[in-house]
Amino acid sequence: MIRLNNVTKIYETQGIKTNALNGISLEIKDGEMIAVMGPSGSGKTTLLNIIGCMDSLTGGKYEYNECEVSALKRGQLNAFRKEHISFVFQNFALMKDYTVYENVELPLLARNISKKERKKIVNEKLELMGISELTKKYATQISGGQQQRCAIARALAAGNDMILADEPTGALDSKTGDEIMEAFIRVNKMGKTVIIITHDQKVAKKCNRVIEIEDGKIKVHND
Ligand SMILES: Nc1ncnc2c1ncn2[C@@H]1O[C@H](COP(=O)(O)OP(=O)(O)O)[C@@H](O)[C@H]1O
Ligand SMILES: [Mg+2]
Repeated sequence: MIRLNNVTKIYETQGIKTNALNGISLEIKDGEMIAVMGPSGSGKTTLLNIIGCMDSLTGGKYEYNECEVSALKRGQLNAFRKEHISFVFQNFALMKDYTVYENVELPLLARNISKKERKKIVNEKLELMGISELTKKYATQISGGQQQRCAIARALAAGNDMILADEPTGALDSKTGDEIMEAFIRVNKMGKTVIIITHDQKVAKKCNRVIEIEDGKIKVHND
């Protein structure tokens, strides 16, 4: 379970302060599939980056199960991220000079896993994403939808429990976006916690719950 308590984030660049998050409190249970929505600049990416330990918070508390993440030192944070977090991005962020197979294998190389075991895991994830036939192609030789499947396979290969996706369908046409959402639903059914930033109501509808952010706060509905 993710537990954020009154989390704030202030960016300071050249003396100018930006309050990106203004007191976010929320709980996300293991195995939930969450959509994060809100206008551009409302703090969605900042929130995801804090949950994913890519950015530090200015105030408040972040706990994951028994771990107080916001109290971890740099080295511990890196270990936490490696154990729990995988990211999927709008622009796929694959390594261009690597094949599909090599991209998915990447997180395993950092984990002391034998070549034989790596092969088993990579092939399993490629099959799950329906891109087994693309193993030897380079990232530049496949479509956007195929690249995003490859990125999701890479996220899965890491074996982590949280998949954080920042507008993963934002660069794809509507039909391909639907296919990618089906892929995320499969990922979620494996028991992974999935958090997806999106502007697309259709994407949000496929999630169990929507968190709306406005001006760095969670929007409360009074209906
Ligand atoms: N690294 C940064 N330095 C300074 N300001 C930032 C930085 N990242 C984001 N911001 C500011 O924080 C606010 C929230 O940004 P962001 O989380 O990217 O919003 P969203 O993802 O909802 O579009 C914006 O005003 C943005 O300009
Ligand atoms: Mg953003």
